Amino acid sequence: MGYTLVTGATGVLGKAFCRRLVLTDDLFLTGRSEERLKDLKTELLSLRADAKIVVFPADLTDFTEREELFKFADEQGLKFSGAFLVAGVDTQMAFEKYTHEKIVFQTRVNFESTVAITHGVLARREKDLKILAVASVCGNQPMPYFALYSATKSAVINFFSALRHEVKDAKITTLIPSSIPTREDVKKDIEKQGWTGKAAAKSPEYIVEKALKALEKNKAKITPGFFNKTVCVLQKITPGFIKNTIIINKFKNKEKDAFN
Ligand SMILES: NC(=O)c1ccc[n+]([C@@H]2O[C@H](COP(=O)([O-])OP(=O)(O)OC[C@H]3O[C@@H](n4cnc5c(N)ncnc54)[C@H](OP(=O)(O)O)[C@@H]3O)[C@@H](O)[C@H]2O)c1
Repeated sequence: MGYTLVTGATGVLGKAFCRRLVLTDDLFLTGRSEERLKDLKTELLSLRADAKIVVFPADLTDFTEREELFKFADEQGLKFSGAFLVAGVDTQMAFEKYTHEKIVFQTRVNFESTVAITHGVLARREKDLKILAVASVCGNQPMPYFALYSATKSAVINFFSALRHEVKDAKITTLIPSSIPTREDVKKDIEKQGWTGKAAAKSPEYIVEKALKALEKNKAKITPGFFNKTVCVLQKITPGFIKNTIIINKFKNKEKDAFN
């Protein structure tokens, strides 16, 4: 069996995936900080001492660093039997407030690097391969004041929904979660939303279990939680002008920028 590559491994959801995956898989973990990757490796080895765990720090926005990652894998003779594409940047603000750097950064992490890493994994795959791409319910419709995030996550949903028809012998699932209490700023935001935030929020561990079950069954998409599934259905039948009004009222006075 090959390695399961996890991007965004040192983020909150990424760590939750790693803690569960290490019980069954050998792992190839990537994130930006070598120190945090080493700490995570130590923690994961305490969960399964004989796990093979490789860490490789890389800024996924950087073409050269992505190339280095796969060069390293080739030098070590590593093949992949899984890819969990968790890295993502949830910056949210009016588009005119973005700098050029922020546009490039968010687009590259959320979409370009996710697709490029998938390409690299496919070229080095074992016969059995599973791919889980992390999108967001924000990708289900255009979202004024959250436009770039929703557009990049929409691109992730469309890309992997198409890829599963090209690469038919792999299991490919897109995770489309709503609220997950991960970073402190995300937790505070969920709290501020009152009962809807509470109803939508699902713990990282819950999300991981639902995602793995969906991937095992090779489902195209999974949105964990009954409330969230219901909201997705309502979104589909609600006219665009009503949706836009709700989204604009919710987001126009809010900003999120955790990746300065
Ligand atoms: N939390 C939610 O409510 C929610 C809802 C829907 C979807 N999601 C998605 O879930 C995923 C995980 O988010 P999270 O809530 O766990 O947030 P998080 O802890 O901030 O995780 C984001 C991850 O992305 C990685 N990343 C960012 N820029 C990178 C870069 N240039 N190169 C390599 N890695 C980079 C970060 O790496 P470092 O560890 O090196 O910083 C981090 O591991 C994201 O794709 C997010 O869009 C979250």
